[in-house]
Amino acid sequence: MKLAQASKFSAARLREEFPILARTVHGKPLVYLDSAATSQKPRAVLEAMQDYYQRTNANIHRGVYQISEDATTLYEQARKRIAASLGASPRELVFTGNATAAVNLVAYSWGRSRLKQGDVVVLTEMEHHANLVPWHILRDERGIEIRYIPVTPEGRLDLSNLDALLSGAKLLGLTHVSNVLGTVNPVAEIAARAHAAGALVLVDGAQSAPHLHFSVADLGCDFFVLTGHKMFGPTGIGGLIARRELLDSMPPFMGGGDMIREVKLSGSRWNSVPHKFEAGTPPIAEAIGLGAAVDFMESAGRDNLEETERALVNEAHERLSQEPGVRVLGPPSTERVCLVSFVMEGIHPHDVAAVLDRDAVCVRAGHHCAQPLHEALGVDASARASFHAYNQPSDIDALIAGLHRARALFGV
Ligand code: ALA
Repeated sequence: MKLAQASKFSAARLREEFPILARTVHGKPLVYLDSAATSQKPRAVLEAMQDYYQRTNANIHRGVYQISEDATTLYEQARKRIAASLGASPRELVFTGNATAAVNLVAYSWGRSRLKQGDVVVLTEMEHHANLVPWHILRDERGIEIRYIPVTPEGRLDLSNLDALLSGAKLLGLTHVSNVLGTVNPVAEIAARAHAAGALVLVDGAQSAPHLHFSVADLGCDFFVLTGHKMFGPTGIGGLIARRELLDSMPPFMGGGDMIREVKLSGSRWNSVPHKFEAGTPPIAEAIGLGAAVDFMESAGRDNLEETERALVNEAHERLSQEPGVRVLGPPSTERVCLVSFVMEGIHPHDVAAVLDRDAVCVRAGHHCAQPLHEALGVDASARASFHAYNQPSDIDALIAGLHRARALFGV
């Protein structure tokens, strides 16, 4: 079924497009609540990738024969559709392996060509390790200074001291949506203040691009990173969206085939952007798969997806908040999307997740690659239930029933 053919959006019909959701685990229907780690894939994505391998598999930008030209067209068409869905132009979208690779691209290329000892980079306590560690590596190498925007106990960014933190900064890096709290940060407002202070802005969109309907242009950032596998696409494909002149001015990050215009033994000249940053054979099938995922989202209607998912997150937040002995992390559901993290009194999050698994309920437990954030909130770890529009209200029933079983089992 093509969702576009559906006259009216139906969450139940959307769910049917995800074959894995029909399987059982331990003899029980799968309840998948770990989409913030990776989303499930609709049939359209699986078929687009299989079709590429079965009918068009060839390397791109290299062959003059038909199927190589077809593969190149499919890859570049995917770039166009993915960029357009985020309000960017295709030349502003560099394909990378994931969001982590995109942040590293900025840290290595822009960071190493622009930052020197004593230069300031501002990050937040809410960042995923992917937007912390590349800057720690640069600090150790270059002696840059890193300042952090703190997080309030309610799970919001504390902007009360922002202008002082930004004073003299060259870059502000922040997440659009927290992968632990679901908090949607006021990125446009913060970016405007960073620009006024003379800093460029990098936004980690790994958890926002899959769940919110927005245009990167409206965020007012200079760099935006995304990953495909959380937005119904395959693993191994992500991207960096950046202003054309910025990409033009940055040196290559990796050298090799396809990123050059000319190579002599005496030296090389670079290809134009975005190819300058795509050395070697890229993830062709994965880019095509992500193009199909974006088509799928557009055809379902991004507003429909967001609305369906927000209703699920609201309900999960409300019901978890009412559970005795459960502390929900982060702000009210009006300020969050996609997930609810929590800790249970007397039961470690790993034990919570293990008990839930017996009922085929999949949640993530641990620090979710955000150790400093957990430290700021005064917890070692949390359990996290995360959603996409393919979830259904009965998934929340299964989660809550599992928590009751965990409490009974641990006698708390
Ligand atoms: N970054 C992913 C998560 O938060 C893997 O689970």
